[in-house]
Amino acid sequence: MADEPLVLGIETSCDETGVGIVRGHTLLADAVASSVDTHARFGGVVPEIASRAHLEAMVPTIERALKEAGVAASDLDGIAVTAGPGLAGALLVGVSAAKAYAYALGKPLYGVNHLASHICVDQLEHGALPEPTMALLVSGGHSSLLLAPDITADVRPLGSTIDDAAGEAFDKVARVLNLGFPGGPVIDRYAKQGDPDAIAFPRGLTGPRDAPYDFSFSGLKTAVARWIEAKRNAGEEVPVAHVAASFQEAVTDVLTRKAIRACRDEGVDHLMIGGGVAANSRLRAMAEERCAAAGITLRVPRPKLCTDNGAMVAALGAEMVARNRAASAWDLPADSSLPVTEPHVPDPSAAATSGHSHTHDHAHTHDHDHVHELSRKNLYS
Ligand code: KG4
Ligand code: ZN
Repeated sequence: MADEPLVLGIETSCDETGVGIVRGHTLLADAVASSVDTHARFGGVVPEIASRAHLEAMVPTIERALKEAGVAASDLDGIAVTAGPGLAGALLVGVSAAKAYAYALGKPLYGVNHLASHICVDQLEHGALPEPTMALLVSGGHSSLLLAPDITADVRPLGSTIDDAAGEAFDKVARVLNLGFPGGPVIDRYAKQGDPDAIAFPRGLTGPRDAPYDFSFSGLKTAVARWIEAKRNAGEEVPVAHVAASFQEAVTDVLTRKAIRACRDEGVDHLMIGGGVAANSRLRAMAEERCAAAGITLRVPRPKLCTDNGAMVAALGAEMVARNRAASAWDLPADSSLPVTEPHVPDPSAAATSGHSHTHDHAHTHDHDHVHELSRKNLYS
């Protein structure tokens, strides 16, 4: 099992209940139950609805994943779960479920970072991640440039958005265009019929004095909204496809430019793009073109692995097991603002990086007793 650990991963940081199972770098199952339709009528994710939906979907989704993978829960080498960042209540459902399964099955628990998982998932598509890897993570909640010398222990933030996330900009522009939620996929579709050069929308933070790796999409979103408003006020029809294509071009231009600059500056010849926005067809094509011109190897997982899923959590969990990283404690918290510099949350009583089995087992036996005591207290008080 050492280098091909069988790990189940649970992801509940937002509105997808994801359960994935991997063996090393091989994907065995990727079950997802989404509550996105329930949120659509509110125009965004409603945290309390998401938490309730996770609770209802959890056990059936785990059972579906085990069936799909054709493995027994008792064969697992570990259970991984997103410990953060994400919606507190939503994370809590996943963390509690992971603890329950890990404890009942007697398996180690690995609380892992959602962002590091988005990077690590590419191992399921393109094999072992080169070290270091540059990662551009673009989703509804994040836009970050990360340098990852070791995905299990060393992830360094180079830059991030100072206002809206890239996906958020897609969602907001889609709302102004009355295209529904989530906005990314529908803008991507409309943009295919539009001219990306029809409207010159601003490229945020690309001046010579601007932070080279930070992003800003709020000005762009406002510029698009104003442009649409002016058209409507003039009684003219809004050319939705042109707006979509020109907006999308502005976002993808800035994202790829900055990512490639970071690779050059840091001397990294691999760029990984992940997160929901990495499903964007223009971003993929532009990154392909610009990376090829810069001599950088581009790695983008298939769209289903880019959006939130359990397989990415399992992939990072498997890497933790393979590299002998310490497991998490039974009182692992759900941390809505877990920093990206913490790819996983090891048991604080275990040695920092060594997963030496002796100390390890000890810590666990101790924690088992602790949990046992707690649950007895709850039962009888
Ligand atoms: O990673 P993800 O599933 O969840 C978060 O962690 O946020 O990303 C969801 C985001 C949404 O904002 C959605 O509009 C965006 O990813 N998205 C896209 C596309 N597909 C999803 N944005 C642009 N183009 C797409 N094809
Ligand atoms: Zn995500």
